[in-house]
Amino acid sequence: MELSWTVAVLVMFTCVIGRTTGIDLQRSLYNHLFDKYNKALRPSSTPNSTLIVEIGVELTHLIDMNEKHQTLTANLWLTMGWNDSYLRWNDSEWRGVTELTVPDSYVWKPDIVLYENVDQYFKGWSKSETYVKLHHNGYVLWEIPTVTLSSCQVNVSSFPFDRQKCPLKFGPWIHSSYEVEMRSMAGEGSLTSFMINAEWHVLSFTAQTHIKSYGEAFDIGTPYSDVTFVLEFQRKSTFYVFNLLLPCLLLTFLMSTMFYLPLETGEKLSFGVSILLAIVVFQLVLNEVLPESEDLPWIGRYVILAMIMMSVSLSLSVMVMNVCDCSITVRPMPEWARRLFLKVLAQLLFMGDMSNGRPTTLQTDETETFQMDLNIERSTTPLDPHDQSEYQIGTEILASNLRKIERKHSFLISYMKEMDRKEEVRKEWRALAKVLDRLFFFIYILTATVCLVVFVATL
Ligand SMILES: *[C@@H]1O[C@H](CO)[C@@H](O)[C@H](O)[C@H]1NC(C)=O
Ligand SMILES: *[C@@H]1O[C@H](CO)[C@@H](O)[C@H](O)[C@H]1NC(C)=O
Ligand SMILES: *[C@@H]1O[C@H](CO)[C@@H](O)[C@H](O)[C@H]1NC(C)=O
Ligand SMILES: *[C@@H]1O[C@H](CO)[C@@H](O)[C@H](O)[C@H]1NC(C)=O
Repeated sequence: MELSWTVAVLVMFTCVIGRTTGIDLQRSLYNHLFDKYNKALRPSSTPNSTLIVEIGVELTHLIDMNEKHQTLTANLWLTMGWNDSYLRWNDSEWRGVTELTVPDSYVWKPDIVLYENVDQYFKGWSKSETYVKLHHNGYVLWEIPTVTLSSCQVNVSSFPFDRQKCPLKFGPWIHSSYEVEMRSMAGEGSLTSFMINAEWHVLSFTAQTHIKSYGEAFDIGTPYSDVTFVLEFQRKSTFYVFNLLLPCLLLTFLMSTMFYLPLETGEKLSFGVSILLAIVVFQLVLNEVLPESEDLPWIGRYVILAMIMMSVSLSLSVMVMNVCDCSITVRPMPEWARRLFLKVLAQLLFMGDMSNGRPTTLQTDETETFQMDLNIERSTTPLDPHDQSEYQIGTEILASNLRKIERKHSFLISYMKEMDRKEEVRKEWRALAKVLDRLFFFIYILTATVCLVVFVATL
């Protein structure tokens, strides 16, 4: 009983002693390290020697890629490490304490910046205070989770099947490469904690080390060191294929059916104008997505081409309607036009020979058939002269009336024939309009297909 109590008290005592000595150890190590430490000075062993800063970047989330403003927002985990020659201790003298964690504001830190940064509210790598881990051999490890907003030159020429390359260049701002030299920690960026992005498929995340001098008036030729991480990613295009590309193609080919609408319905123009409006709306939607740059993506070019083709086909439709509308003047079709359009072209366009129903020249001799034999027999039976003269007068009146009727009749006949002839001519012109419609239909389909193929081939 006594013994166990003594053991328990002893164990507790040693624990307390151990802990206090542990804390005391930390405190005195801290005092030992930071009593004379000055974080303003670059911690290299000699004033002349270069300090090497290692950097590693892990991409965890591609938050936004803004094509319009050409910016990339990403969640990055930055890791930096360097040897601070003033923060070394002999671990066997400090009872095996090998590491010490202190707030980052206590130690010297390299002035690493992201060259592409466009965040106007950037105030340092982290909003909250971060800590650094000190190793007994002087190695300082600084890990920062951060969200960066950087510029990235977006090339949308093959939108929506485009690949983008965004550089993330990290380097000291004021320290030249004689003072601070950058080095990549793992040789490339890390993607192990990357969250799958719905819009982009990340292809690679490489790192390159550069030493480059910038033309500053103060000291031209001073080299600066940097590590550039290049993020390459590809757009997942399914969304745009179904929501942008397919409707656009459908509209283009729907427009071709305008040439199939019968002329008489008068719907042709309103149909064409509705489709033209729809494609204009698509262009506006597209312009929302794309940057206002000089080189249009192929899809933008295709939409503009479709608009031009649609406008041209609308005006062609107006022309065709004008050809067909022959209510005012009816000119017979010239022979060459009949032969060219109704015979050759119609056959070429699989419509058959349409020149069969050509109107024959008016047969004027037919009108003569009704010519009445008005020379009514004058040889009359011997009547008394009075009766005879009355009869004569009666025949005269009858004959003149009949002549009037005959004149009216022949006028009617010739009018009907004229109408028939006009109808024939009109039919011919209508046939010509149909042939033209079919011709323009084929031209439109051909142009649209060729353009599409050319654009897809140059993708
Ligand atoms: C510092 O380095 C430069 C070249 O890197 C050398 O010319 C110069 O003598 C060095 N100075 C000292 C004090 O070591
Ligand atoms: C820090 O120093 C150790 C040797 O003391 C060396 O192996 C390591 O590469 C150095 N690290 C950096 C970033 O300079
Ligand atoms: C660390 O301290 C031990 C014992 O005091 C000593 O033997 C050893 O040489 C020291 N190591 C260094 C690198 O100073
Ligand atoms: C964009 O990429 C295409 C090929 O994908 C290339 O021909 C074009 O020059 C690039 N434009 C710019 C501005 O880099």
